[in-house]
Amino acid sequence: MTIPKVLVVYYSRTRRTERLAHAICNSLEIRGLRCDLESLREPIGRHGLFGYLRSVIDAALARTCPILPLTHELENYDVVIVGSPVWNGSMSTPVRSFLSANAGRFKNLALFLTYKTPREEEVFAQIEALAARPAVAQLMVRWPELRSGAYKAELGLFVEQIEQAAKQSMSTERRVERASSLLH
Ligand SMILES: Cc1cc2nc3c(=O)[nH]c(=O)nc-3n(C[C@H](O)[C@H](O)[C@H](O)COP(=O)(O)O)c2cc1C
Repeated sequence: MTIPKVLVVYYSRTRRTERLAHAICNSLEIRGLRCDLESLREPIGRHGLFGYLRSVIDAALARTCPILPLTHELENYDVVIVGSPVWNGSMSTPVRSFLSANAGRFKNLALFLTYKTPREEEVFAQIEALAARPAVAQLMVRWPELRSGAYKAELGLFVEQIEQAAKQSMSTERRVERASSLLH
């Protein structure tokens, strides 16, 4: 039996988004899906005060930055889940760079964000526009909920939506393969 494959691509400066990325991956694996993790890395990191200030400026100017080559092929996955911290009411700079370079390469896209202060922001819509794909599932978690685990019910729904999309994508692909083998 073929198992649906999911890739979690994320950027995390201070490990909060990374923690959520791992929780998502674990939940998917418990449901029997295969899940891989891809952390976006830059040639120069964003640690300390200098890294923070650089991030503030990059975010304010909606810049992109160089990122190191990915270690997974996006085309091999039924769903790619992209995770980012909210920066200046938008996505983080490395995630902006990743999406700009890979728009349209996702069979299915799902999104998650971590953030500090609740505000009316259009971050998901911005990411969908840049990725040229609507998201099959969205999850937004604030610090305290990440620490207390209060987000777990929402995580359950998020993972369920991804599982459905991955299975649907796999069965569509199989039907297309069968149809094209009948033609040849
Ligand atoms: C440059 C910068 C800009 C930020 N802007 C926002 C913001 O606009 N809204 C918000 O809620 N949090 C903002 N934050 C806080 C982060 O979204 C939050 O701390 C996030 O959970 C950090 O994730 P990480 O630990 O994976 O890097 C900002 C953080 C940084 C470094």
